Amino acid sequence: MMDDSLINQDPEAVEATQELLDYTNWLFSQDPKFILSVAQLDQLPPADTLEIAFAGRSNVGKSSLLNALVRKHNLARTSNTPGRTQMLNFFSLSERLLFVDLPGYGYAEAPLKIIANWNKTLRQYLMGRPSLRRVFLLIDARHGIKEKDLEMMTMLDEVAVNYQLVLTKIDKISQTELTAIEEKTRKIAEKHTACHPELLITSSEKKIGIDQVQQTIAALILDDLKR
Ligand code: GTP
Ligand code: MG
Repeated sequence: MMDDSLINQDPEAVEATQELLDYTNWLFSQDPKFILSVAQLDQLPPADTLEIAFAGRSNVGKSSLLNALVRKHNLARTSNTPGRTQMLNFFSLSERLLFVDLPGYGYAEAPLKIIANWNKTLRQYLMGRPSLRRVFLLIDARHGIKEKDLEMMTMLDEVAVNYQLVLTKIDKISQTELTAIEEKTRKIAEKHTACHPELLITSSEKKIGIDQVQQTIAALILDDLKR
């Protein structure tokens, strides 16, 4: 079985100072709350709180990662049916942080017109959201970056929204496969201007790499508080 000790420490990782560890503990001991589901952009909550969005293909594990981060099984709805999350779902963690669970893309069975509409809504959301501090773009470690992910990365580069890649479901692959996919993913990430250099590596199922994601989030808030 794979555990945290097998993950190579990424040189780009945030430095885990005592202050950061304390703040991370405090933040993730707060009670997460569901705020609202948004189908149209005129329904968005006020953009006055630091926001972090979870994007990626249908079924990649966005809702599961969110639940693992806040240690709740059923905050965000997970499912075996791809395309379950159809709206922008907002959650709060303390008064400092909003999480957004974005609808998954690449769900082939959705009608083209609906896909086109969602893409438009998503782009408008990404472009017009000053409080959106980072997008976690989730990539299934078994499959790596796919065409639809590249399109998403290019869109994020264009709208200049800072994003960070997160490998998911690493419990499903071997250590050798993980090393290979890490290398491949980093190579692609390097070419994208708005992509953060640190690659996060996770399993929501086995709770691997979750603290590193938590620390990354806490560090973003601490940064803003110090400004
Ligand atoms: P959409 O909302 O449809 O876009 O999907 P999503 O990205 O939110 O995926 P979700 O979290 O619902 O997970 C999809 C499936 O993958 C579920 O059956 C999860 O149990 C499973 N899954 C998620 N994370 C992991 C993981 O780390 N390991 C394993 N083995 N399975 C996982
Ligand atoms: Mg989901």
